[in-house]
This record gives sequence, C-alpha cells and structure tokens, in this order.
Amino acid sequence: MTTASSADHPTRRDFLFVATGAAAAVGGAAALWPFISQMNPDASTIAAGAPIEVDLSPVAEGQDIKVFWRGKPIYISHRTKKQIDEARAVNVASLPDPQSDEARVKSGHEQWLVVIGICTHLGCIPIAHEGNYDGFFCPCHGSQYDSSGRIRQGPAPANLPVPPYQFVSDTKIQIG
Ligand code: FES
Repeated sequence: MTTASSADHPTRRDFLFVATGAAAAVGGAAALWPFISQMNPDASTIAAGAPIEVDLSPVAEGQDIKVFWRGKPIYISHRTKKQIDEARAVNVASLPDPQSDEARVKSGHEQWLVVIGICTHLGCIPIAHEGNYDGFFCPCHGSQYDSSGRIRQGPAPANLPVPPYQFVSDTKIQIG
C-alpha cells in the first residue's frame, strides 16, 4: 500500500514539472515573436508606402515580373537588346507623350524598365509583352504602350508612369 502510494506521487510531480516546463517554453516563444516581428515593417506600414526591395537576379532577359507597391502593380521588365533598340529608334517628337527612353530608365541599367502597371486611360491593368510595340497592351479599350512604357496607340493620354526607385546593387532595386 505504502509502496504503491509513493510510486504514484513522483508520477504526478513529474507530470506537473513537465507541464510547467512546456508552458514556460510556449510563453518564451510567444514573447520572442513580437520582438522579431517588430524588426520588419508591418503590413500596414508597407501599404502606407514603405519602400520595398526587389531582387532582379531571377528575372531572365525578355521576362517581366509584377510586384505591388502602395497597392499598385509595378511591372519590371528585363528588356532584350531588340526592345531597347526599338525604344531608342523612335522619333520622340512624334510620340503622343514625348519622352526619351533614356529619361525613363536608369543610366547603366538600360535593360531594366520599371513602370506602374495602370493604364493611363481609365485604370485597367495592361498585359506585358502584348500589342504591336513589344511592350504592353490594355485589353479594356486597346491602348498600346511600347517597350519603354510609352503610349503609342489608343485612347490613353499618357505614358505608364515610372515610380521612384533606385538600384541598391547591380541586381536589386528599392522602390519608394
Ligand atoms: S483603360 Fe486602358 S485603354 Fe481604356
């Protein structure tokens, strides 16, 4: 009887000990998470306009990617030499919204075009690599933008805007 009783008690104590240890571990992890979380901008800060960094190294020549900044779609195009040559061969004065390709990209990084992907007509999202100018095509009313994001045909009145951005390394940009 005595033997059975003393054998029971250590079992309960062991259980309490393990349960207390587990609670402490969970509490520790919960305390650590907010600390780590505070080191990054939260979703509302990013939505309010915090800069974002984009790694360009996975984007092959001829490819486009779309990211979001301030809730807006941003197209990043890794242009081919043909696309750059086409954009630079245009008579700028003949364009509806005259702007040189050189003014729309960063010197030394001419292969990268970064534009806000919102049609300047009524705000649809154009499709990359579509249309007659090797650039963007808006399916809503047929506006066509070239490989520099400049309006070439259709009802849109202006070029796709270039957001504020800078190269922080050869393969990384910061938008905003
Ligand atoms: S919204 Fe793009 S052409 Fe009308």
